[in-house]
Amino acid sequence: MDKLLIIGATGLLGSKALELAERRYESYGTYNTNKKKSLLQLDVTDKSAVDAIFNKLHPDFVLDTHALNNVDYCELHRNEAFNINVAGSVNIIGACYRLGAKYVSISSDYVFDGKKSLYTEKSLQNPLNYYGRTKWAAEIMPAIVGLDAIVARTSSIYGIGSSTGKKSFVPWLIENLKKGNSTDVLSDLYYSPTYNIDLAKTAFDLYDAEQSGLFNVVGSDCISKYTFAQMISKEFELDTNLLKPISSTDLNQSAKRPRKAKLSVNKLVSAIAQKPVGVKHGLKLLHKEMIERGLW
Ligand SMILES: NC(=O)c1ccc[n+]([C@@H]2O[C@H](COP(=O)([O-])OP(=O)(O)OC[C@H]3O[C@@H](n4cnc5c(N)ncnc54)[C@H](OP(=O)(O)O)[C@@H]3O)[C@@H](O)[C@H]2O)c1
Repeated sequence: MDKLLIIGATGLLGSKALELAERRYESYGTYNTNKKKSLLQLDVTDKSAVDAIFNKLHPDFVLDTHALNNVDYCELHRNEAFNINVAGSVNIIGACYRLGAKYVSISSDYVFDGKKSLYTEKSLQNPLNYYGRTKWAAEIMPAIVGLDAIVARTSSIYGIGSSTGKKSFVPWLIENLKKGNSTDVLSDLYYSPTYNIDLAKTAFDLYDAEQSGLFNVVGSDCISKYTFAQMISKEFELDTNLLKPISSTDLNQSAKRPRKAKLSVNKLVSAIAQKPVGVKHGLKLLHKEMIERGLW
């Protein structure tokens, strides 16, 4: 059984990836600030700490889900964003290189400016914000240094996150609508919501299929947050009238965002003959998951 280390196992993706991985690999996970007993503490900006964990575990492969994800915060705190998203990734890539571990990481549709109608793995990056720049640097690094790696480039991850982590969009919206709160949702920026279970499973399937390189891994609908919110409200039978569409110009956001960066998943389908589900199906799966866990 292959040995896997998941970095960022308290996050929206990493916590779910660890649950799935425990059925497939000998699995270990790390937290940084959200302490969890079953996980190892690791701050990826500390190179000697990264090296120490790798020396102890000797993983066959690493799923790196760590990041500073708050796009506006990254815009205003560039050194911190660089240290975590770029220098932190370099530390992990260096350790993988040294011990011959395969590196699997997650990039973002924010590496693009949104001016093209469809982006493939060959499209040129042109990020509009600093977060996108850090993800661009991290996604090209393994290929530049010749590390065997898979980079899964995704968009707007949704699902149930870890019990220790922050509340993600779907649970946050459900809670708001259940309380009867009127909720503003952006209607002029488009994303491809991607179910966290689907993304984690796809990353593992790519690894098992001995694939390497960059793959777009996104849900099949590219929609606005407002349409996504309407679909969530419908699936969970909540009051759709509480949703108020707003424009990004109404918000005084520090970082620019692409209006619509739709990613093609043709390369993924050719590699493993599967792709993440669309929103309607994904929300049904999430609803079922929440019922099974007593969260609904
Ligand atoms: N969320 C999205 O919509 C989205 C869209 C496109 C791409 N992505 C990419 O997908 C990946 C996963 O995103 P996510 O939403 O699951 O992230 P998340 O929920 O914000 O979780 C981030 C994880 O990174 C860890 N972390 C942060 N700083 C760290 C540091 N200095 N050292 C070690 N670990 C650190 C956190 O640990 P603690 O919680 O313990 O501090 C947490 O486990 C990221 O690479 C992100 O850029 C996300």
